[in-house]
Order: sequence, then C-alpha cells, then structure tokens
Amino acid sequence: MKLGVNLDHIATLRQARGGVEPSPVKAAEICLALGADYIVMHLRGDRRHIQETDLKKLAKIDRKKIHLEMAVTKEMLDFATSLKCGSVCLVPEFPNELTTSGGLNLCKRNLMSLTRAVKTLQKTGIKVSLFINPEPSDIRTAKRLGADIVELCTKAYSEVKNEKARQAELERVEMATILAKELDLEVHAGHGLNYKNVQDIAHIDGMEALNIGHAIIARSVFRGLPQALLDMKLLIGAK
Ligand code: PXP
Repeated sequence: MKLGVNLDHIATLRQARGGVEPSPVKAAEICLALGADYIVMHLRGDRRHIQETDLKKLAKIDRKKIHLEMAVTKEMLDFATSLKCGSVCLVPEFPNELTTSGGLNLCKRNLMSLTRAVKTLQKTGIKVSLFINPEPSDIRTAKRLGADIVELCTKAYSEVKNEKARQAELERVEMATILAKELDLEVHAGHGLNYKNVQDIAHIDGMEALNIGHAIIARSVFRGLPQALLDMKLLIGAK
C-alpha cells in the first residue's frame, strides 16, 4: 500500500495570513523523508491554497513525487506539462465548493476534453489518474479514456450515518476495485479517509494507494501543539 499525502491544508493555513509560513514544500520534505510515497497538491483555479510556486519548488526537489490534482482546463494542462510531474489526477472543480464534491462526471459531453487531456499529459510522460465514483460504468469509461490509474472516491463511504450504509459503501469500493484490476488499471482511493475509517479501505485486495490529506494535517496540529507551546514559553520566559 502506498500513501500519498495531500498538503493543500498546509497552504490553506499559510494563505490565511498571506505570508510564507507554514510552507507546504517544507511539509513535503518532512513527509517524503518519513516515507510518504508521493505528495498530493491540488492547484485550484481560484488558487485558494496551493500556488504554482509551491509546485515549482517541489519539482526542484523531486518532480516525480508530485501527484498534481487539477481540473481539465487549458491553463492547468499547460502548467502540468511544463512541470513534468510524476502523475496528475483529473478532478471535477466547482467555484464555491468547500472541497472536491465527488468523482468526475463522465457523461458524453465531457469525454472529448478528457480524452484529449489524458493524451496530452501522457505524451509528456505523466501518468494519469481519473478521480471517479466507484461505479462499474465509470471504471469502464476510465479504461476507454486511456487512464493509467483510477482513484475511487470515498466521499460517500466517509459520510455514512450507520453500519448498514458503511457496509454497502465499502462493498461498492471493493467491487469497483475488482473490476478496475480486471481491466488492468492501477487503483487508488481517497477523500474523507481518516484514522477511524481507513483500515477497511486499506485492506481491500488490489487497492494500491490511498491519498489522504485533511485527517493527517488535522491530527498533526494536536501532535505538534505541545512542542510548539513549550518552545514559545521557553522563548518568552513564561513559567
Ligand atoms: N483525493 C482527491 C481527488 C481529492 O480531491 C482530495 C481532497 O482534496 C483527497 C483525495 C484528499 O481528501 P481528504 O483531504 O479528505 O483526505
């Protein structure tokens, strides 16, 4: 099992003050040194967290470890192909959403632009993942589009209200994984995975990587807060 660490929310904290700290690139170096397999950053159209400069700096350290999430736009395709990152995950993006709202809408109208995007990225040597809902038809479409990877959206799984629904959503992800492996796709999953719900997803046969952000960054606040407080007390001479 591989772990991709999404560092968008390190950048969210930095953007709150418009300065340079905390640096998502520094966070990436720490995560990679501690064994994260790759770093996930979502460059949004509104640049609310990650900026191009973050990705360019990280590319200088190790461009192949960058898994760039982006919408299918000319601006993003131009940027990704100039960055030459290791992989890209194409995601749907809507202006006022709090976070990615679900998998790509693979309706006919969107297929032409997706096919072109997949080819453009692959020509530059970038592996392409499609963020999709765990639906058999979407997996078959992803294969037809030429994707290397499917990332199965676990948003519904992470938001279930009872055990019966949890089992049903888990089964959807399991069945989707089986089909994707039959079609020779690499299988990832992500969105809303946390310290309570991740293990059943991690145990799915054929699941190869999990992309996790918010839960890790949220926990890091409490893991790091004691030391941060002690450092400041020492500096100002507080008892
Ligand atoms: N995968 C994709 C495609 C996402 O859009 C996100 C959220 O940015 C994640 C994984 C990570 O989700 P979370 O922050 O809830 O772990």
